Amino acid sequence: MSNYKINNYDVFSGIYDEFRIQGDFFAQYELKFGSKFINSAFSRLPQKLNLLELGCGTGIWSKIIFEIAEENRKSLKCYLVEPSIGMIKKAKSKLENRNATFKNYDASSLLIKKINIKFDCIVSALSIDAIGINIFKLILNYYLKGDGIALFWIFNHERYNSITDKIVKVWTFNNKKIEIPSFKILKKDIIDTFDDLIYNLEIHEIKLPKINDISREIFFCEISKHGM
Ligand SMILES: C[S@@+](CC[C@H](N)C(=O)[O-])C[C@H]1O[C@@H](n2cnc3c(N)ncnc32)[C@H](O)[C@@H]1O
Repeated sequence: MSNYKINNYDVFSGIYDEFRIQGDFFAQYELKFGSKFINSAFSRLPQKLNLLELGCGTGIWSKIIFEIAEENRKSLKCYLVEPSIGMIKKAKSKLENRNATFKNYDASSLLIKKINIKFDCIVSALSIDAIGINIFKLILNYYLKGDGIALFWIFNHERYNSITDKIVKVWTFNNKKIEIPSFKILKKDIIDTFDDLIYNLEIHEIKLPKINDISREIFFCEISKHGM
């Protein structure tokens, strides 16, 4: 088996959608719950929406987010951040004619070169383990409006047995072992980070069918500021 060690998703970008949608047993559950989750947040947000997506990848969720906005008659403006050039190219091709601005850099760059926009909604689908939960919180502190809503989802730690102190996640695809830098984020880390005086945290735990006797879950998390 040959190995790829990569520090971004470029190696993956060509096969990512196939891998994500057809190759993954969880996609239908994620789609169902993720869509409900976004719908529910949108119903509480204004008609004109400024949304930031962190780690948008090939734009799978960005496209769905635009569709949900349309169904809810929202006027949506998206700011999409993604460090992999291969991934972002795919996202651009899915979002032609949409009101979307693409930024080809790491989420942490938003903290170094600050942009002058505040967001009603900040979304991150399965990317927080790459971004890091502390960076994510710093981004919310600065960019989330007082009455805004942040949504992210992430697998529980079962998925990350491979992550050691070297912080590397190992995936296998087409007989190739692919190693990707990743933080090991546990439910406890999410609670410790967001259950505080500034933020409300809601975690919905969605159980997925057992595969090879391993039970897995996705944590869907909603964060808002207290008093909202
Ligand atoms: C598992 S993919 C998820 C992509 C997409 N959100 C989806 O649902 O298909 C993780 C994504 O996070 C991106 N990523 C990695 N490090 C990042 C960082 N520091 N800031 C923002 N995105 C990052 C990767 O390039 C990759 O596209």
